Amino acid sequence: GDSIDLAVIGGDGIGPEVVAEGLKVLDAVSGAKVARTEYDLGAQRWHATGETLPDSVLTELRGHDAILLGAIGDPTVPSGVLERNLLLRLRFELDHYINLRPSKLYPGTASPLDVATVAPNGIDFIVVREGTEGPYTGNGGALRVGTPQELATEVSVNTRFGAERAVRDAFARAAARERKHLTLVHKHNVLTHAGHLWRRTVEDVGAEFPDVTTAYTHVDAATIYLVTDPGRFDVIVTDNLFGDIVTDLAAAVTGGIGLAASGNINPDGTAPSMFEPVHGSAPDIAGQGKADPTAAILSVAMLLAHLGRDDEANRVHDAVSADLASRGTTVRSTTQVGDAIAALVS
Ligand code: IPM
Ligand code: MN
Repeated sequence: GDSIDLAVIGGDGIGPEVVAEGLKVLDAVSGAKVARTEYDLGAQRWHATGETLPDSVLTELRGHDAILLGAIGDPTVPSGVLERNLLLRLRFELDHYINLRPSKLYPGTASPLDVATVAPNGIDFIVVREGTEGPYTGNGGALRVGTPQELATEVSVNTRFGAERAVRDAFARAAARERKHLTLVHKHNVLTHAGHLWRRTVEDVGAEFPDVTTAYTHVDAATIYLVTDPGRFDVIVTDNLFGDIVTDLAAAVTGGIGLAASGNINPDGTAPSMFEPVHGSAPDIAGQGKADPTAAILSVAMLLAHLGRDDEANRVHDAVSADLASRGTTVRSTTQVGDAIAALVS
């Protein structure tokens, strides 16, 4: 249709600042009428009311076409409270089983790697991180806390259903790309139960995608390759925790988390998908206009693509690409970067 009904969660720290620039670019690029509803969730609300994600808000969120989220987390809130009860609850409740994280080194962007040597053909891959299972489900517990006999477990939950839908999505994405190559990242030499489930799933689902070549890499080795030979990757599929870790490294080698976008996607459309920069709330620089809004802007591009607005998504990518190519070493404020990219898309 020609309108987008967006839920906006600015969140904590730099979240609202970068989201504002994302919305600026969305307004500039989109022919659609963009309706937005802001939801104040995060540290402030928790301090004021003790609420993280009230059921009534969750119900309202379900009614929107998509959600744009800034960042969640604040040092004044005990670790895990907002992460588990807000961010992860959204991902689980809205069945965001694909956490899609593209990693692309744009021309003109500085990488800590000697790219000419380790990736002469560039870096351009995507990570399909499973989003609803693994050690993130909160299964586990602690005994005898605070004693020398303390014991803690964190159980990684892997279902065939969960792995299979992530793997099938990753194969489909690989089939649509030029190199058509899928790498399973896991640790089946130690995590034998889950590892073998994932391996078998890749083998079985692979039969549906004869054009896609596959490889397997243990996660520890994958961290080496991400630094010494990142060009080898096209599509990576992996579980929730390995995906969390490798996507931070992937962001670091492609210009930093200021540029890394993500989509928490519900491919079945039973609930809205949610787009957010990979970075956190960065409370140390909040309110200073120093945050790079590019990751939030690229998250808007992913949102547009998800809504089938490929032309608008491509225009945002092109504008970001042009802006990055001309950035040099000039220091610009959050709004200056947003203004520049908005001017390039309109
Ligand atoms: C991310 C973050 C989250 C995660 C945290 C904040 C719960 O690190 O989006 O990568 O681990 O998924
Ligand atoms: Mn992370």
